[in-house]
Parts: sequence; C-alpha cells; structure tokens
Amino acid sequence: MKALVLCGGKGTRLRPLTYTIPKQLVPVANQPILHYVMGQIHSTGIKEVGVIIAPETGEQIKEALSANPWGFAFTFILQEEPKGLAHAVKVAQDFLNDEPFLMYLGDNLIGESIVPFVEEFKQSDVETMILLKEVEDPKMFGVAAVDETGRVRFLVEKPKEPPSNLALVGIYLFSPAIHKAISEIEPSWRGELEITDAIQRLLEKGKSVKSYILKRWWLDTGKKDDLLEANRVVLDELIKEDLQGEIDEESKVVGRVSLAKGAQVKESTIRGPVVIGEGAMVKNSFIGPYTSVGNGCIIENAALEHSVILDDAKIAEIERLEDSVIGRNAVVSKERRNSQALRLMVGDDAEVLL
Ligand code: TTP
Repeated sequence: MKALVLCGGKGTRLRPLTYTIPKQLVPVANQPILHYVMGQIHSTGIKEVGVIIAPETGEQIKEALSANPWGFAFTFILQEEPKGLAHAVKVAQDFLNDEPFLMYLGDNLIGESIVPFVEEFKQSDVETMILLKEVEDPKMFGVAAVDETGRVRFLVEKPKEPPSNLALVGIYLFSPAIHKAISEIEPSWRGELEITDAIQRLLEKGKSVKSYILKRWWLDTGKKDDLLEANRVVLDELIKEDLQGEIDEESKVVGRVSLAKGAQVKESTIRGPVVIGEGAMVKNSFIGPYTSVGNGCIIENAALEHSVILDDAKIAEIERLEDSVIGRNAVVSKERRNSQALRLMVGDDAEVLL
C-alpha cells in the first residue's frame, strides 16, 4: 500500500500566515502539522509516500520533509493548480499505479491512531473506506449517510438538510477502482473535481464503501480558532516536561513545560502546558497554559496565554495577550511614550482586535 499526502491548495482561510507558510507547515505545539501526518503514516508501516505540491509552496514542503526521520521513499508530484482533491489523485496516477492507497490531507490532525482503520481496510474487500466524525454543524462539511453496518449509502457536500451528523475527515483508503470513477466525473459548481463525487460514483456503480467513525478529536486547521484549538489539544496531550534551556533563580516553571535548548527564562513564570522553542528569550513575563512560543522569539515584560507565537516574533510591554496567533518576525509592542495613539504596520489580511 502507498500513501498520497495532499499539500497543494491555497490556504486562504489562514491568511496572512499562509502568504509565507503553506498551511500544512503551520506549527502546532512548535511542530509543522505535516510532521504529525507523516508520523501517523509511518505507524501504518507504509514506506512509499507521494506528496502533492503546488508551484508556489512545493520547495518549502520538500525542505520541511528533507530530514525524513521516518525513512520514507518520497515522490513529489506537482499539481499546477488546486483543481480539487480528485484532481490531485488524477495527477498522481502514475505514482499510485494499480495499488491501493491511503489519502491524507496534509492539514488534518486527529487524536487517535489510524492503524485500526488501515487494518480493517486491508482485511476487507471494500473499494473505499472513509473516516467520519460526528460534528455539531454538519452543514459545513461533506456528510455521509450510513446504514447500521457502517456501509455508506450516499455522500453530500455541505448539505442544507444533512442526512446525518457524520462529517468526512480528510483521510481515505482507496482501491485502484477510484481512478475510473474519477475519470467519469465532471467538475463541481466551484470548478473542482470533488473526491466526494468520485466516491458517490463508486456507490452508483454498486461498489461497496465502508465507514469508520473516529472516536476522539479531529481538527482541520482551516481558521485561526481551529489552529488555537489544535494547539490547545496537542499541548494538552503530548507535551511532557522537558527542560533543556536555562531557567534563572527568580523564575518559576510549573506544570508540563518543554523548553528547548538555548532558550532562556529570566524573572518569569511559566505555567504549562507550554512549549518554548530553541533560542527563545522570556524575560520578566508570564506565559500561561496552552501557549506555543517558536524558536528565536523574544517575550519581554508581557503576559500571554492560549496563543501561538511563530518563530522570531517579539512581544514586549503587553499586559495581556490571549487567544492570539502572531506570525513569524512580527513585533507586538507598546511604546513607552505618553501617547494614546496606536502606531501600526499591519500586513494584508491581518486582524487586529484592540
Ligand atoms: P482545502 O482546505 O479544501 O483547500 P485550501 O488548502 O485551498 O484551503 P482554503 O479553503 O483555506 O483556501 O484543502 C484541503 C487540503 O488538500 C489542503 O491540505 C490542501 C490540499 N489540496 C490539494 O493538495 N490540492 C487541491 O486541489 C485542493 C483543493 C486541496
């Protein structure tokens, strides 16, 4: 079995971050989302991984995978334009050949192992298996209607009247029969070749499609609040105490805190779960739970909580920063002059709530 990881797309909902970082490389607990995806694939025993890349961000994706601690044989496949998930499969057809494959969207994070899902597929004779998750508002997702044995009856994209509350998670298992189904569908109203249409086509042809329901969390990191939530959940579950950096006598570090080598904490309080990256400097500050501070950041005379701070950002003289995402190299600081005026240099599509 092979794997196909989708790292194309535009990532418009996470702008401005995605002007400079592809969505799949946005960090959660200081690790690119894509690394969690690769970890999941590695645990299934799959060795050959095709990665769909876009012309704009392909080099960054290759670079982020270059250390390859998983020992994969990577094949990078260029998708010139993001014309849909089924289009990505079409572009990868030579790589996939006539083998079954696991398709994984490079920006999806889930809270449990995919191994049982993959094993069930290997032992069954179904053409496709889809992963589903109960959601509160199914109108925003692709939704599946399933019978009591888990067989899928039909799929609908963003339905006005959802047939169930089971949304499609971006992880699928396909037999080579999917290629023919894709060749038989037309682009949707949004101009994309939809994978849901291809699966629906399989069903119409009488092929069997089975579902597997995810029990724990699923986060597709489409928007800022999703990213903060992903960061919260991952810090909560994965961060262990690991203090490699320096902490001075005046500082207090409580709870699960990961402090990377070369990081310094001076006259500050850190309350975990928190992760602080290499070479970061925290001085006379409070860093509260569910915060990720990237490599090389400077936090001075500030208090932050439930936030994601990307590499090399500087936060200074800020009484309280919460629920925030701060991009690489950004500076958030209060001037010490006696002035009521705000002086801002805010990039395209940024959001500043004062
Ligand atoms: P989406 O979230 O559907 O699309 P997007 O990345 O363009 O995001 P936005 O809506 O914010 O603009 O994509 C899901 C995943 O699939 C994501 O990792 C990108 C990838 N993808 C491709 O590789 N090729 C494609 O043609 C599309 C549509 C998505």
